[in-house]
Amino acid sequence: MSDQKRYSPVSKKLPEFWHGADYNPDQWLHRPEILQKDIELMKKANCNVMALGIFAWAALEPREGEYNLDWLQERMDSLYKNGIYTILATPSGARPAWMSQKYPEVLRVQSNRQRILQGNRHNHCFSSPVYREKISQINRKLAERFKEHPGLILWHVSNEYSGSCHCEICQEQFREGLKEKYGTLEELNRSWWTAFWSHTYTDWKQIESPAPHGEQSIQALKIDWKRFTTDQTIDFFRNEITPLKELTPEVPVTTNFMGTFPGLDYWKFASEVDVVAWDSYPAWHCSWKEDQEVASDTAFTHDLQRSLKGGQPFLLMESTPSRQNWRKVAKSKKPGMHLLSSLQAVAHGSDTVQYFQWRMGRGGAEKFHGAVVDHAGDEKRRVFREVGETGEVLSRLDSIPGSYVESEAAIMFDWENRWGLKEAHIPRKEKNYEQVCKNHYRQFWKRGIPLDIVGQDSSLENYRLLIVPMLYMVKEGTAEKIKNFVEQGGTLVLTYFSGIVNENDLCFQDKAPGPLKEAAGISVEEIIPLYEEENYQLKMEQNNKLGLKKSYRADDFCEELNLEGAQSLARFSSGYLAESPALTVNNLGQGRVYYIASRNEQDFLADFYYYLTKKLSISPVLDIEVPEGVSIQKRTDGTADYLFLMNFTEQRRTLKPGKKELYDLVEEKKVTDSITLEGFGVRVLKRKRGK
Ligand code: GLA
Ligand code: ZN
Repeated sequence: MSDQKRYSPVSKKLPEFWHGADYNPDQWLHRPEILQKDIELMKKANCNVMALGIFAWAALEPREGEYNLDWLQERMDSLYKNGIYTILATPSGARPAWMSQKYPEVLRVQSNRQRILQGNRHNHCFSSPVYREKISQINRKLAERFKEHPGLILWHVSNEYSGSCHCEICQEQFREGLKEKYGTLEELNRSWWTAFWSHTYTDWKQIESPAPHGEQSIQALKIDWKRFTTDQTIDFFRNEITPLKELTPEVPVTTNFMGTFPGLDYWKFASEVDVVAWDSYPAWHCSWKEDQEVASDTAFTHDLQRSLKGGQPFLLMESTPSRQNWRKVAKSKKPGMHLLSSLQAVAHGSDTVQYFQWRMGRGGAEKFHGAVVDHAGDEKRRVFREVGETGEVLSRLDSIPGSYVESEAAIMFDWENRWGLKEAHIPRKEKNYEQVCKNHYRQFWKRGIPLDIVGQDSSLENYRLLIVPMLYMVKEGTAEKIKNFVEQGGTLVLTYFSGIVNENDLCFQDKAPGPLKEAAGISVEEIIPLYEEENYQLKMEQNNKLGLKKSYRADDFCEELNLEGAQSLARFSSGYLAESPALTVNNLGQGRVYYIASRNEQDFLADFYYYLTKKLSISPVLDIEVPEGVSIQKRTDGTADYLFLMNFTEQRRTLKPGKKELYDLVEEKKVTDSITLEGFGVRVLKRKRGK
């Protein structure tokens, strides 16, 4: 990234922030006056894009082979005439009833082997030749009709791909993939350890996807099924984009991801899309977490989306202007939260702010979901006003799209490892992998130190610090890459429950952390899980090199370590591990490996990372004491830095952003001294690049 000053815009037609929503005129074709009104309101709301056609298959192809694209043309034309560009969707997210009636094989078979009935959405078979052909035909029609349309800027392929189908065709494809991967049944049997309970396969046809009333005890099979699900979804996506790439090669394609959704390996999927897009629905103002924790967790996911394509800006494809209808308690965003949460996405690398949905429908499952325009259909609500203001603010930030985020540190979050962890029933069922990654992340977020997220296949070249929580599954090549990173001078933080199995879920014939044991300079004698109500204490060694002094609480996981070259920095002071090392450090080449042997309270992580980043001179975006609940992030274009100051509390916060000359892009004035952020307040400041 060092030489690149700016990423090119997703579309040259609209090289500014995109602001808009999922727009479903197909639900309102019988009400032309509403469609008319939409354009007027969109302009008032300062929108410049709309995503059309996401679930419009029945309106686009009302009867088999009979296409009606005129209404869409009319909509795209009038949007364009009014300065609004179109993100055009392919409609595979939901199918017309005639199709399920005539070709029931397009309907998904559930893991219990029951075929679903027509209804709902996101529930087709990914292998069905008929479905693939039908979607490829309609996609071709769309591309043929709109390839010259000046308003078309992006393809939104399908919607939130998810799930898997267990029909016979899918089973067959699964087996084909396994044949390719393992070559012979002997090899598959060995890799899956099928001698266990006499599960040895003697014919490929005996292999079935996991089922509630079938195979559940061969974990490698379950993990391979998840890999197959990702591969099959990607294959389906490729089939969808073939006509699009052929007819509109210059129009980029994306699909909307779901953040940390467990069902698809987005590290793999990301390389198939031209730009990453995701749908963000944080539980603001919920009862189980403070807003600032929700903000930190959301920041993690934004950073993940940016990292999926190596730092390239992403698109916030959906967010709610007010509430989500699907939560137990459907809270609306409090005043100010809308702009704040929208700019949070921008701060972490989004070049768009988009919503689900433009207008509430009168019926159906999402009629109460937040929308820019509610049932009253006018501009007289707070939600509408706040959306309009957000568009207005974005227009003042137009030097930001294409700029990037710089991070010297990264944290690993890996889907295959997560699948492995889920299947491992020891030492305790709940692993909380995702939340643990977010908890480590939070200490950096709080202090305004930007982080990237990496997977096992990512490059580690740009980092000085790498945090690897619970790397249970170590894929081939990962340990070597990590060791190399350390030898070259990197600092690695590795935690408990790492280095247990290889990518086929076969245990290493070694003590943990297996292939990372020498690097860490320790081995695990025993892992001790704790009940919810149990905890141990750990105490820092006197005069330890990090300078930490306190005692801390350990929950859930504790390990008894053997020191094999590493030095102890803390020891357990309670439980049967008393005096056993709880935190160690080992030198390797030019670098160091820290090993954390237990799941420690947040205070530990705060102190540990505070001293570690000091030691490594990894500094925050602003060298100030960040007030509680405030997040500071930075994007840069190599010449100017853009600082985002975001207050995720309801209380006023004041901070002094430093001596350098700063310009407030939102208020359009110079910053002289201190800055006051109102509750849920946000500022964007520009300064010359550098500290
Ligand atoms: C998802 C879908 C949208 C809509 C929203 C509601 O993100 O993509 O179609 O259902 O959820 O929150
Ligand atoms: Zn199927």
